[in-house]
Amino acid sequence: MPTLIHLSDLHFGSVHIPRLSERILQDIAALNPDAIVISGDFTLRARPQEFLAARAFLDRLAQPTLAIPGNHDQPLFHPFERLTRPFARYRHYLCPETDSTLAVAGWFIVGLNDNRPILPGGFWSRAQRAWLEEQLARAPHGAVKVVATHHHLLWEGKWRPAGFWYPSRALAWLARGGVELVLNGHTHTPHVAQTREGIVVARAGTATSSRTRHGQGNSYHLIVVDERQIAVFTREYDARADAFVTARATTFERKG
Ligand SMILES: [Fe+2]
Ligand SMILES: [Fe+2]
Repeated sequence: MPTLIHLSDLHFGSVHIPRLSERILQDIAALNPDAIVISGDFTLRARPQEFLAARAFLDRLAQPTLAIPGNHDQPLFHPFERLTRPFARYRHYLCPETDSTLAVAGWFIVGLNDNRPILPGGFWSRAQRAWLEEQLARAPHGAVKVVATHHHLLWEGKWRPAGFWYPSRALAWLARGGVELVLNGHTHTPHVAQTREGIVVARAGTATSSRTRHGQGNSYHLIVVDERQIAVFTREYDARADAFVTARATTFERKG
């Protein structure tokens, strides 16, 4: 059964909690997933030393890993650089590509950078959509198609923070491309739901930062797929146990 660990919003920098990243590395070693997806906000302010700490974390992962940037991975205090080369630091320290694919062990994962230097929320350009379409068409037969992007496509609360633009349209389009799972972060709150087209949308909380929101603690997702179902395990940090433990398991029928 293909397995995947989804982390988000590690936020290396002043709000990062090193103890939590150590616990996550221990979990990853024990669970040994087929793939790891990290959906952006590796840093707090895109400072070189924050990227170096994120790089050191990535270097400790033995499993195939797909990373995408988040809005915080663009320099905030260097406006000219932010406008002209917003992801130069991300590319230099973490990953040369901001859009990429990972085909491994029954997964076909496409990561897309949806961040824009001055606009709130996120979207994909026309060129990115064309590229995504091409990638989905060349997915290995039988692989579970996954798309990862930083901003949230679903929001369960009343006041929706700036998220992915036109999410319903994007989700309907992804369903037509055979996508079964969409991964994102950004809000620092975990949430899992299935759209009426059948896509499971899993939003991971902040795995390792003190910037938790709405009374939700630190968490990440473990996702397991078999022929019939997609199961998402929300693993929350329990301070008393000093460990991430499974707080919820949410299971969906595959409709593809
Ligand atoms: Fe974040
Ligand atoms: Fe973010």
